[in-house]
Amino acid sequence: MQSPELREALSRASQVFHWAEDPEPPPFDQVPEGNLKVGVDLGTAYLTIAVLDDQNQPLTGEYQFAQVARDGLVVDFVGAVDLVKIMKDRIERRIGRELTHAFSGYPPGVPRTEVQASAHVVEAAGLICSGLVDEPSAANALVGLENGVIVDVGGGTTGIAVVENGQVVYTADEATGGTHFSLVIAGAHDIPFEEAERRKIDPDQQQVLFPVVKPVLEKVASIVARHVKGFQVPGITLVGGTSAFYRAGEVIEEYTGIPAWVPDYPALVTPIGMAMHNTNMDTSI
Ligand SMILES: Nc1ncnc2c1ncn2[C@@H]1O[C@H](COP(=O)(O)OP(=O)(O)OP(=O)(O)O)[C@@H](O)[C@H]1O
Ligand SMILES: [Mg+2]
Repeated sequence: MQSPELREALSRASQVFHWAEDPEPPPFDQVPEGNLKVGVDLGTAYLTIAVLDDQNQPLTGEYQFAQVARDGLVVDFVGAVDLVKIMKDRIERRIGRELTHAFSGYPPGVPRTEVQASAHVVEAAGLICSGLVDEPSAANALVGLENGVIVDVGGGTTGIAVVENGQVVYTADEATGGTHFSLVIAGAHDIPFEEAERRKIDPDQQQVLFPVVKPVLEKVASIVARHVKGFQVPGITLVGGTSAFYRAGEVIEEYTGIPAWVPDYPALVTPIGMAMHNTNMDTSI
């Protein structure tokens, strides 16, 4: 169930996070004081920067569609650095102060050497990388599950973390995500990928698209069912942008037989969770 704190944090984030391609929002009236906590999520589909205050309240953020990483691997290093720099500059102009540190993340199961690539992007963009956390654990920093499973259905992969007594005891990641939804829609309607991607995230079109993507949702459900076998799982919390698709929670619940729910604005959960880990903070003010 969504706690009032979680609902409030996500609702606030949805108002203060901006598409990086939109016109620049006006600067803050007041420069925020205190330590800032920053998360940089180099997702397969969305590149997101989340900025929180020291009470973990979302202050601002930027996100955009970018294909600079694939399944946790940075495939366009220079492109990723350029985009992070541009987004960071916009944020700094908006808040009137510099960002100095950030946390980033990686899908579980990615080799340690590859994981470091995210840290290199963050550093090349002018931020000290304070650390890296696996994505479902980042998500759970915000969701705060004691027992259950976090399923992060992103653009490229589905990440799974089983939580027992507040601790992540098992993680997995498999290559099915929102990009597959878009490919299936593009194929079924004979349209380019970009058009399929646009239609897919339009809430008014999702009901019509549902029969086409249902098999992919069931594939996600089958991945979840396979990984949680053997665990006592009271519930599934779905995060990641693809979880926002029409009836995603219901399909997963029906298939697995485990109650499932989706918080509001699920794409923002993991980046905010990464920022929450950034306790080694900016102390420039
Ligand atoms: N309202 C929506 N309905 C359905 N899908 C959505 C919606 N909003 C975003 N998406 C999809 O969610 C995906 C992006 O989500 P997210 O930011 O969680 O993924 P990511 O972190 O980039 O990928 P990954 O975690 O797999 O590396 C994209 O495929 C996007 O099309
Ligand atoms: Mg992600």
